[in-house]
Amino acid sequence: MQVSYHGHSVVKIVTENKKIIIDPFINGNELTDLNVGDLEVDVIILTHGHNDHVGDTVEIAKKNNALVIAPYELAVYIGKNDINIHPMNLGGAYQFDFGKVKLTQAFHGSSYQEQDGTVIYTGMPSGVLFTAEGKTIYHAGDTALFSDMKMIGERNEIDVAFLPIGDNLTMGPEDAVDAALWLKAKKVVPIHYDTFPAIKQDPKAFANMLPEGVGIPLKVGEILELK
Ligand code: NI
Ligand code: MN
Repeated sequence: MQVSYHGHSVVKIVTENKKIIIDPFINGNELTDLNVGDLEVDVIILTHGHNDHVGDTVEIAKKNNALVIAPYELAVYIGKNDINIHPMNLGGAYQFDFGKVKLTQAFHGSSYQEQDGTVIYTGMPSGVLFTAEGKTIYHAGDTALFSDMKMIGERNEIDVAFLPIGDNLTMGPEDAVDAALWLKAKKVVPIHYDTFPAIKQDPKAFANMLPEGVGIPLKVGEILELK
């Protein structure tokens, strides 16, 4: 399995036969190396409704006939665009043919801002546990630090955790260090930083606060091979 980071919270997972993208915010994401026209994916997973996470989901889903997995209200909301959805909710897991997806809690908001400024609330925000080919990936979504990350770490053997470090809107680096330790993740990739002035961070400094070999500040487009 390959995982890669594409700026902000965009993470791609490539298994033997499926391509999965989490939170595909591409247009408007100045850090990303992806473009919607070239992107080939089978599955889109959304952590919550904020525009910097839903991003280009509708266009990508239509172009690729991709399945969109999202927290219930967000899935229903986005499903109005005539795309394939699979609604889930916190604590629920589902075994898809490409792997198992479980939504975990996140302490954050979840709403979509339409072009005219109307804010539509889209239920609870989430994190994602994805398990396939014997590997487990945790994408925390946008969240504050919460002590049940210890429980997530006790109950799952996490190979790679993608954790926000931007601060202001999510955990900052110090809190993300505690999150990493509580999750007992073998590898931790920082996300959700540098996209906007308010979330500027130094990913290498974050990695240096973690035990040796755990912090992997992936460059945009860089692939991490999980064997
Ligand atoms: Ni958010
Ligand atoms: Mn965000």
